[in-house]
Amino acid sequence: MSGNKVKTAIFPVAGMGTRFLPATKAVPKELLSVIDTPLIQFAIDEARAAGIERMVFVSHPSKSAIERHVRDDAGLRASLCAKGKHDIAAQLESAALHGGDDAVRFVMQDKPLGLGHAVSCARDHVLDGPVAVILPDDLILGGRGCLTEMIAAYDPSVAGHLVATMEVAREETKSYGVLDVADTVGDLLHARGIVEKPDPKVAPSCFAVVGRYILDPAIFARLAHQTPGAGGEIQLTDAIAHDIGTVGLAGFGFAGTRFDCGSKAGMLRATLHLAMQDPEFDDVLAEIAPRPLAMAAE
Ligand code: UTP
Repeated sequence: MSGNKVKTAIFPVAGMGTRFLPATKAVPKELLSVIDTPLIQFAIDEARAAGIERMVFVSHPSKSAIERHVRDDAGLRASLCAKGKHDIAAQLESAALHGGDDAVRFVMQDKPLGLGHAVSCARDHVLDGPVAVILPDDLILGGRGCLTEMIAAYDPSVAGHLVATMEVAREETKSYGVLDVADTVGDLLHARGIVEKPDPKVAPSCFAVVGRYILDPAIFARLAHQTPGAGGEIQLTDAIAHDIGTVGLAGFGFAGTRFDCGSKAGMLRATLHLAMQDPEFDDVLAEIAPRPLAMAAE
């Protein structure tokens, strides 16, 4: 037991990943890797570091490979050990989730009706108190871990819903939920509103919501009545917006760097970012780096 005020993390992983087709035709987006680590593993590690007690994965029947990745595979470890590959076997053992039903749950969202709908599918599987939601395709590296920072900052007497936020260019606001900020106190942006994918001309600010949330449990009752919004999907943003007057909403400015790994450019940026921190790839990067200069000189 961690004694954490936030005990449950929900991982919505049932989406279609259309922006990454054809890579995601047979391989779930959440298993695409940055070098050798699948996106879902980064998300699990972040939740584990934050002291989460129960992880609820909202998946789709066609994405069973996610569960195979997440759970321990003693047979595979035994085969590796038989070949003398003890290091990699130990690595797999510590990355996997070992707990039973108390610690790990998989629930199915049979149709990708939207992020809000995916979160509502977890309703009967969460522990009491506020819940965290982690979108694995938003990779956040650095700092103390985004969820750890958010749990430390979370104060339901100030705002029951806390969302990770970062400033983006005005023309990019059309791709995000965007906060209407009332005032800023340290890392917290008190919000009087939130709008999903606004026209940049009327976006209330450039503070975009990215894939980490701590939500008051009232979110589940709201989602049960939420009608489809932008894109015909049941939007988490709309449900959060609805209860601002009663629950309260704040944005949190996290310390790390966020990579949109649901997009090709974001995945490439994340890969280069991690490669540049690992001396194993110095030679590869040195081979690549002069090329743009040479091309520019042509
Ligand atoms: P995205 O909107 O980024 O994922 O949702 P997507 O729909 O799979 O991707 P594109 O836009 O078609 O390329 C963020 C997270 O929410 C999950 C996704 O799996 C992803 O992890 N999600 C989205 C669901 O679980 N269910 C949904 O209905 C929608």
